[in-house]
Amino acid sequence: MIRLTIIAALVSAAAALAAMDDAAFDSVLESPQEFGRLFEDFERENHRGNSGGERAMRFRAFAKHAKEIAQHNHGSYSWREGLNFFADMSDEERVSHLGLNVTNAVRNVVRLEKRQEGSVPSRKSWIDEGAVTPVKDQGSCGSCWAFGAMGTLEGVYKQATGVLRNFAEQQMLDCSYPSRDGCGGGWMRDGVLSVRDAGQLASAVDYVYEARDSECRAAGKRNSMVGADVENYVELEEGEEYTIQALAIRPLTVTIHVLDTFFAYTTGIYRDTTQTSFPNHALTAVAYTEAYVLVKNSWSASWGDRGYIKIARNYNGCSFHRFVGYAVLTNLGDDTNESDAATDYTPDDPCVDTFSACREDWCNFTLINERCPVTCGRCEGDDGDDGDDGDDGDDGDDGACPSGTIRCDDGVCRHEHMCH
Ligand SMILES: *[C@@H]1O[C@H](CO)[C@@H](O)[C@H](O)[C@H]1NC(C)=O
Ligand SMILES: *[C@@H]1O[C@H](CO)[C@@H](O)[C@H](O)[C@H]1NC(C)=O
Ligand SMILES: *[C@@H]1O[C@H](CO)[C@@H](O)[C@H](O)[C@H]1NC(C)=O
Repeated sequence: MIRLTIIAALVSAAAALAAMDDAAFDSVLESPQEFGRLFEDFERENHRGNSGGERAMRFRAFAKHAKEIAQHNHGSYSWREGLNFFADMSDEERVSHLGLNVTNAVRNVVRLEKRQEGSVPSRKSWIDEGAVTPVKDQGSCGSCWAFGAMGTLEGVYKQATGVLRNFAEQQMLDCSYPSRDGCGGGWMRDGVLSVRDAGQLASAVDYVYEARDSECRAAGKRNSMVGADVENYVELEEGEEYTIQALAIRPLTVTIHVLDTFFAYTTGIYRDTTQTSFPNHALTAVAYTEAYVLVKNSWSASWGDRGYIKIARNYNGCSFHRFVGYAVLTNLGDDTNESDAATDYTPDDPCVDTFSACREDWCNFTLINERCPVTCGRCEGDDGDDGDDGDDGDDGDDGACPSGTIRCDDGVCRHEHMCH
């Protein structure tokens, strides 16, 4: 029976892997025939037309990554991994999707005052405010810096004018580095300040993204940033409390050191504790909760959690809080045009305790109750999405409960003795 289900899942799509449980994936890995079919499905879905030697090389990379992903998903990690379009790529090809040139960093740091606990809201979402455009795709051009920077620029422009504009990364890519290839890497501030220098910014439909650096064509395009001018780009002192404080006020550019576990991320809260060196990728932080910072990537919606990743709070791994910044605008007046489309992503909130000493008998205290939803039995209709139940988090009341809890007769997950 189980076997049949597996084969049906394979026929429908390799993407069904995300929904395949770990035991099913293991049995695919063990069967050369089934694994071969999985690879063929993957090739078809990702429009790979390789033959001969290249195909063999890609099959080896795919097999290696599939094994790593299966191993990861068997471990007790807070995030899950899957086979996405990076699965058959060489390390070199993967790196071409990054593009942060940290040697460009001349820090211009603003020191934020430490705020008292409680004075910063416990969660904030710029998606809820309609200040985030749909996930974009940088392709195999090292232009992450332009996408990371555009995320904050689009967000602060929405705040300044009430209009969400999908601006053109291609303008930043063409115009920031006249003497070298912007696909070879860059720095977010250079991108934002190039817009100030140009005195205008085209929309993405007028100045279409090409994933390669060309001549600066800004002057020939219609200006879409009619309601504001770029004044500056501000960088923050390193530290999670500063990131959160600033993210409560506007979307930010952030950077991270991308590891293999990041390429393969699908759902859950990412917290890779491998020792890392320097950030190599830029992205945009668009929301936070007590449990995670929500980050928009530029690898299309088929990567990660529909294009996004949740980075753990209280986590200083992967140099995540090292280079955080945002654009500052001068308001010029009205933008009377209609907003462009906003992202349609809404995060599935994993129900997890974010306080390390949760106790049921303290649940009457608001602060404990808020931070200990599992212990306090508030994980209603949520399977916990905590990565160890092999579940994608979308199945509502039928899913597994967070560890240590069971589903009571009323359908709510609680500790067993709290069911009545
Ligand atoms: C990185 O930035 C530095 C300083 O601007 C520049 O000299 C160097 O060429 C850049 N590297 C690449 C690969 O573009
Ligand atoms: C915005 O509206 C103005 C005036 O209605 C128009 O001239 C301009 O082309 C519009 N810009 C965009 C990007 O739609
Ligand atoms: C929590 O509050 C309820 C209702 O006010 C009360 O009956 C209960 O005794 C309280 N529990 C604890 C552990 O203080």
